[in-house]
Amino acid sequence: METIFSGIQPSGSLTLGNYLGAMKQFVELQEDYDCYFCIVDEHAITVPQERLKLRNNIRELAALHLASGIDHNKATLFIQSEVPAHTQLGWIMQTQSYIGELERMTQFKDKSAGKNAVSSALLTYPPLMAADILLYNTSLVPVGNDQTQHLELTRDLAERFNNKYNDIFTVPQIKVSEVGARIMSLQEPTKKMSKSDQNQKATIYMLDEPKRIEKKIKSAVTDSDGVVQFDKENKPGVSNLMTILASCTNLTLDQIEEKYQGVGYGQFKQDVADAVVATLKPIQDRYHEIIDSQELDDILDHGAEKASRIANKTLAKAKKAMGLGRVK
Ligand code: TYM
Repeated sequence: METIFSGIQPSGSLTLGNYLGAMKQFVELQEDYDCYFCIVDEHAITVPQERLKLRNNIRELAALHLASGIDHNKATLFIQSEVPAHTQLGWIMQTQSYIGELERMTQFKDKSAGKNAVSSALLTYPPLMAADILLYNTSLVPVGNDQTQHLELTRDLAERFNNKYNDIFTVPQIKVSEVGARIMSLQEPTKKMSKSDQNQKATIYMLDEPKRIEKKIKSAVTDSDGVVQFDKENKPGVSNLMTILASCTNLTLDQIEEKYQGVGYGQFKQDVADAVVATLKPIQDRYHEIIDSQELDDILDHGAEKASRIANKTLAKAKKAMGLGRVK
């Protein structure tokens, strides 16, 4: 069975973008692949985090994976910092990365822009991400499309290492979902929906109450055409809502255009809100059942154990190939 790896940062409450761009795919993929889903807390600390908030976010994110339908009998769910091989291989991958290529990463440019105290880890974030993926002989990485640049770099680093030392790493393929790969801000629909947006109205969080979701969608920025038509360039707001509706139902974008011909934005927005609530409500109910459970801890303990077993094997091979440590 081929292996899938993906990670989400516990850097804030999870958004509808994270769900539609990543987590929803995870649930489908666990049926056919050996899946590793990782809460990448070591990535989250590349920017300042509050200790207690971080702890809560980690647990919330773990519970949301399970509530969304990740089955611990099919997939391995674990926390990055509980598997030390990640930072160990991360260091090794740093030795294979060039400062120039890291400085070219758009996520680094965005997150460091205008700041005078930027951690060096924000720059070396991609080699750690490469390590996450390469430790598990991953063949496929499902992500939203903001991560494709990091994944291209992961592929380059794997090939660079394999050519220089020994053919150890599987070079992973990128898997971006067809619809939902880039959910945009509700207030500035040319920007991606983000966990860290200061404007609360711009983002739907997975744990937002139904009334709040409805309110946010009703006040989403659209345009004055009154036509429900997919045109990202000229109608980014409406196109984003159409993408959300398509991702939350079985409707295609064409079917949505047809369905809303001659119907105003009022009804359209109401239907988008209903579809989002219908998608998130069952997840929220299940979330509240498991967030404080011992079961959640047991699953994470077991996940870290299993992940460590596989990760340590790959790490040992990489160390040996480079001549680190002693021969045993
Ligand atoms: P993160 O935590 O920012 O996002 C987690 C996943 O959600 C996707 N995503 C979106 N998809 C659609 N629309 C959006 N508005 C949106 N916002 C986020 C992301 O593409 C991602 O798939 N570097 C990664 C975390 C990571 C990782 C990994 C991912 C660390 N190691 C190894 C894959 C494999 C990140 O910051 O994702």
